[in-house]
Amino acid sequence: MQGRGVFSSRLGFVLTAAGSAVGLGNIWKFPYVAGNEGGGAFLIIYLGLVFSLGLSVMLAEFAVGRAAGRNPVGAYKHLKGGLWPLVGFMGIAAGFIILSFYSVVGGWTLTYVMEAIAGGLPSDRESLGATFGATISDPVRPVLMHGLFMGITVFIVYSGVEGGIEKANKVLMPMLFVLLIVLVGRSVTLDGAADGIRFFLQPDFSKVTPSMISAALGQAFFSLSLGLGAMITYGSYLDKKADLPKAAIMVTGLDTMVALLAGFLILPAVFAFGLDPSAGPGLTFITLPAIFSSMPWGGLFAVLFFLLLTIAALTSSVSLLEVVVSYMIDERGHGRRKATVKAAIAIFLLGIPSSLSFGVWSDVTIAGKTIFDLFDYMTSNIMLPLGGIAVSLFVGWSIKPAAIDEIHHGRDKKFRLTPVWIMILRFVAPVTIAWILVSGL
Ligand code: TRP
Repeated sequence: MQGRGVFSSRLGFVLTAAGSAVGLGNIWKFPYVAGNEGGGAFLIIYLGLVFSLGLSVMLAEFAVGRAAGRNPVGAYKHLKGGLWPLVGFMGIAAGFIILSFYSVVGGWTLTYVMEAIAGGLPSDRESLGATFGATISDPVRPVLMHGLFMGITVFIVYSGVEGGIEKANKVLMPMLFVLLIVLVGRSVTLDGAADGIRFFLQPDFSKVTPSMISAALGQAFFSLSLGLGAMITYGSYLDKKADLPKAAIMVTGLDTMVALLAGFLILPAVFAFGLDPSAGPGLTFITLPAIFSSMPWGGLFAVLFFLLLTIAALTSSVSLLEVVVSYMIDERGHGRRKATVKAAIAIFLLGIPSSLSFGVWSDVTIAGKTIFDLFDYMTSNIMLPLGGIAVSLFVGWSIKPAAIDEIHHGRDKKFRLTPVWIMILRFVAPVTIAWILVSGL
């Protein structure tokens, strides 16, 4: 393990893993997926999946990462070998694809930071949607902003784990949290907000369909950063004294709190302003300026919010790039700098079609999906769940004694839920995920 970074403190690790989990998935994606899938019933299924399967898979990834001290491919190779490293490869590929479109959305947030600073965000209801549409459909600027977002990601990954990634997280995550709470306070007191709260909390079980459950599972994996080895990679930088079950619970809890806050921020305002909850990827970007325009110092809040959102997105994009980079360093013998730049350029290029699919290439569809939607669907709904099945089977069956040993390092007491955890990994998770995966297709 010499030469690899190590987290300087346990709190730093939890916040950094939470930094990976908390991102656009919570604030941009969660509200619009919940809106698309009909609100309350989706929320219940989502929460159920997060705290049963999500939590177990996260602990499994931490255990694999710390036991092996390697990137996902190297970890499977080192702990067992055989065909297992292929799972790691699928993860690297998924990370690569996710970052390509994630960075496009990151570029939108950067654009909104600049517009907010310039005071250029719309305040009247009519132009909210139009401004967003014009922002993302332009063939040039979003691509440049996507490049800028990748550039900043590279800069952070360049400085190494403990230098860049950890430091930024410790201060900024709590700030984002506080700001979210303030904004939720405004949103839920808007006239007409009650309908949104009802939509978000009151389950309508007629909305439960296989594709909705599949969306909930995909969202759970995406939001918790699971299924591709990001938490394996971060676990590999963790020292032996940290308490893994506690870390998994804290990260899952924080991630879920932020998603819930985002729901309470966006959905009440959507209803208060008479917008459509199933508006899709634009929902958050269209709704937020409306909230800001309804508050004192709205302009200031707008700048602060989009800045913190961008930073939350960066701490996630960093974890995605780190997966690819750690693989290139450990397995391919690249230096950190060369690996970072090479990977980033390839990811930037792959992201361009996703960006254009909101404008000039919006008619290019495969199986009824635009390029952006296709990349999102392929990764969230297929590759991440497959990765989740694989890591569950791996820990539950292949390396069980070593994994149990690993989660007991750093604890003074035995982890009492070990048998439950193993049961979930052996049977519940693989069967449930496989069933959702198949019925969702
Ligand atoms: N979880 C992040 C978000 O919600 C995105 C992300 C970062 C991710 N790393 C990941 C998703 C690994 C899946 C796998 O914004």
